Amino acid sequence: MAQKGFILCFLLPILLFFTTTIFAIPITQAYPGVFSPDPQIDVSSANIHGVIGYAINPFPANESDRNHYDSRKGKTIKYLIMHFTEENFTKTVNIFTNNSMVNPTSAHYVITQKEINNLDGGQVLRVVPENLRAWHAGTSAWGNDTSLNYVSIGIEHVNLGFNGNVSLPELNRTYFPYDPDEIKASGIISSGIVKQYGILPQHVIGHEDVQPTWKPDPGPLFPWGKLYKDYGVGAWLDDDEMTVDAIIKKYNPPRPFPQNLNRDVLLAMLYNYGWRSAGDDSRVILAFKKHFSANQYPAYCDEIIRLEDMFWAWALEAKYVTSTPTTVTPNTVPTVSGSTCADAVPDCLQYNLNECKNSIYKPMMCKYCKVSKF
Ligand SMILES: *[C@@H]1O[C@H](CO)[C@@H](O)[C@H](O)[C@H]1NC(C)=O
Ligand SMILES: *[C@@H]1O[C@H](CO)[C@@H](O)[C@H](O)[C@H]1NC(C)=O
Ligand SMILES: *[C@@H]1O[C@H](CO)[C@@H](O)[C@H](O)[C@H]1NC(C)=O
Ligand SMILES: *[C@@H]1O[C@H](CO)[C@@H](O)[C@H](O)[C@H]1NC(C)=O
Ligand SMILES: *[C@@H]1O[C@H](CO)[C@@H](O)[C@H](O)[C@H]1NC(C)=O
Ligand SMILES: *[C@@H]1O[C@H](CO)[C@@H](O)[C@H](O)[C@H]1NC(C)=O
Ligand SMILES: [Zn+2]
Repeated sequence: MAQKGFILCFLLPILLFFTTTIFAIPITQAYPGVFSPDPQIDVSSANIHGVIGYAINPFPANESDRNHYDSRKGKTIKYLIMHFTEENFTKTVNIFTNNSMVNPTSAHYVITQKEINNLDGGQVLRVVPENLRAWHAGTSAWGNDTSLNYVSIGIEHVNLGFNGNVSLPELNRTYFPYDPDEIKASGIISSGIVKQYGILPQHVIGHEDVQPTWKPDPGPLFPWGKLYKDYGVGAWLDDDEMTVDAIIKKYNPPRPFPQNLNRDVLLAMLYNYGWRSAGDDSRVILAFKKHFSANQYPAYCDEIIRLEDMFWAWALEAKYVTSTPTTVTPNTVPTVSGSTCADAVPDCLQYNLNECKNSIYKPMMCKYCKVSKF
């Protein structure tokens, strides 16, 4: 008994002290040759859903603005949101820890790609602990949920995005492929995350799915099908679910397969599945195509509606939407109410008061928000 007391009272605190302080190392030592100048970040080794990586230690009080996170306010994790950085690893970490509350951004995890000799792909760095709210999805919406930062985990994949002029149409851009080691690490930790929190397949989505007017992210080359097939993560169709007959046999489609290419019917299915527009239906169609029917085929990331687009939208609705289909009016974003705009849309840092009348606020209208860049 006396021995047990000794271990608990004396050795345990010492052990905790050692693991949190002594095992903390400068980030320059964890990733040699990657950070210069030294960004003055301490990290500790961490087991991240089975992948050994590093976790950034909290910054001290005199640099508290480098901690880009706040409370989830008791809300439950329901979503996993995928991103690409459009910056290299070094720059991403600098941005996620800059000592500034001007457009602060972050994500729970950053996964590396092989971009320089001394940095392997598939390294996982935790920037924000899962129990805290990271700032990666801005004023977003999916289904009946808004402000998804509260209820999501965000993973940033280092990838430079695409080559070329941003004003080029999607199909004219050249996207960079994802590093296979990066996707492997992403698949492993995502599989752990969806199991731990019971995240529904249709709640594993991309940044552009929840903010379709913002930017392409994680783009048409993000391997959604591979994550589904190899890691059981997210929504997709199995190889034996690729025909109308197979879907009818296996599920209970809420509507007959639309025989014509019809934009309104396509949008009704997409809105029923979860997408919300901020007044631009075309961007919803593009986000859907990049995630599903034109995934891995940037050349089809245009606004033309093809039979495979109708099929994917119809089949996804049949497979994943369990509630009775509602005729969601395209173009609507759920409104939230609160006594002030800040209550209604806590991510919003600056409000256009005219849009805030009657305490009803459309979150997508927020102009300056915690996090939109990533
Ligand atoms: C915060 O304090 C530490 C330790 O005293 C010091 O090294 C660091 O430069 C300070 N940071 C700022 C932004 O003043
Ligand atoms: C990372 O990108 C920044 C510009 O965003 C560049 O200045 C820097 O040299 C790059 N670092 C590496 C290691 O590629
Ligand atoms: C910190 O990063 C954000 C997001 O990129 C940027 O808007 C802001 O200007 C940066 N602040 C500083 C002081 O570099
Ligand atoms: C959204 O809310 C409506 C109305 O309450 C409900 O019928 C529908 O099932 C909800 N959708 C989801 C995905 O929870
Ligand atoms: C991008 O393309 C647009 C339209 O073609 C053009 O007006 C603009 O000058 C281009 N920008 C750059 C940086 O090339
Ligand atoms: C984009 O690609 C399409 C199809 O190849 C082509 O017809 C169109 O002219 C291109 N647009 C631009 C702005 O390059
Ligand atoms: Zn993003």
